[in-house]
Amino acid sequence: MANPQRTQVGIVGAGPAGLVLSHLLYLYGIDSIVVENRSRQYVEDRVRAGVLEQGTVDLLTEMGVGERMKTEGLIHYGIELRFGGRGHRIDFKDLTGGKGIMIYAQHEVLKDLNNARAATGGQVYFEVEDVSVHGFDGCRPTIRYKKDGNSHEISCDFIAGCDGFHGICRPSIPSGVLTEYVREYPFGWLGILAEARPSSEELIYTYHDRGFALLSMRTPRISRLYLQCKPDEDIALWEDERIWQELHTRLTSDGWKLTEGEILQKGVTGMRSFVVEPMQYGRLFLAGDSAHIVPPTGAKGLNLAVADVRVLARGFKEFYATGRRDLLDSYSEIALRRVWKVQRFSWWMTSMLHRFPDENPFDRRRQLAELDYVTGSRAAAKTLAENYVGLKLPGRHL
Ligand code: FAD
Ligand code: DHB
Repeated sequence: MANPQRTQVGIVGAGPAGLVLSHLLYLYGIDSIVVENRSRQYVEDRVRAGVLEQGTVDLLTEMGVGERMKTEGLIHYGIELRFGGRGHRIDFKDLTGGKGIMIYAQHEVLKDLNNARAATGGQVYFEVEDVSVHGFDGCRPTIRYKKDGNSHEISCDFIAGCDGFHGICRPSIPSGVLTEYVREYPFGWLGILAEARPSSEELIYTYHDRGFALLSMRTPRISRLYLQCKPDEDIALWEDERIWQELHTRLTSDGWKLTEGEILQKGVTGMRSFVVEPMQYGRLFLAGDSAHIVPPTGAKGLNLAVADVRVLARGFKEFYATGRRDLLDSYSEIALRRVWKVQRFSWWMTSMLHRFPDENPFDRRRQLAELDYVTGSRAAAKTLAENYVGLKLPGRHL
């Protein structure tokens, strides 16, 4: 075994959860090592989320990684819900007492975090192989991995499983410990990134006879658009022209025109709700997508991952400052309260805005009544706005 290494917190995965945790721990004076099986380039190019809650923006800013976000990100104070060919604005600023969201791509957040980690001597090992976790049911956890054919071992006090839904940490917990809660949706999203000026200043969530559509963006020149599709949709059947045609049809509204442009990237994403309980076992803590997945409607996945590690980092801070494990022991309980509220919101947005293959005429009238209510009642709109900008995080950010 080459290079036996030692750290306080061993982190598996350099996504938003792993990198935010690692940098927060650095700011608290706690040592960590991150192992990631992809290359830095791959992680920094992977197109995913784009909407940051106010709390996520505030945390990244306080962590000192918000400079580029502040100049390049787009602040939005509302979204449009479009149905029956008409748009209805949900005014976040008015409904939440001044809060908003930030449009800034997940991979840009990751670039900023990687740069901050590199500048402060952070240890993030990319392109490692055969990662495995051991000993977390006792007091000597280890992470093993291979790099360039050599085996390595990191001994640590704790392990943070930030390795996403398909990672190895969750399956390493003995069977019978975790309870899984799952809901699959009978549809997916076909997403494109296009070199096209966004046709609206704010996001548009559309309910249409032919299915849901979403207009989002990344920059003032790049649009991000989604269409509800079959869960196993074959992207090869979607020529660019067909995608634009369908987007025009679903997003149509009087006096409004969708701007087209070159399609830079396209793909299909499945939709599911998933939670495991508890989110910890011994000295292994799960955070982000390794513990839960939300359907994308409402843009909560990345934000929830960040909220988890904020709680977890505080637990480590308390432990290393005082030797007490109270917060660490309550990590799962604290994190899950938020997880379930965010699950509820994401499920609700998804159910309100998509066509279901097995729906009956009653369901459809009910969906339209829900949209009518949300856009017509200040109380209902306030509920949407409060959840969309992000539920309050307990305590100060750092
Ligand atoms: P991940 O980002 O999945 O990171 C896990 C990391 O672990 C990865 O880098 C992976 O390579 C690594 N890893 C996996 N296995 C191993 C292993 N065995 N060893 C070492 N490393 C490993 N969320 C939002 O909030 N807003 C949005 O607008 C939004 N849009 C989305 C659009 C799409 C198309 C998709 C797919 C997701 C979207 N999400 C969105 C969800 C969001 O991207 C995820 O919730 C977020 O990435 C979760 O972060 P994470 O760090 O928990 O997991
Ligand atoms: C985006 C993704 C979402 O899931 C959403 O609800 C809003 C925006 C996006 O990728 O821009």
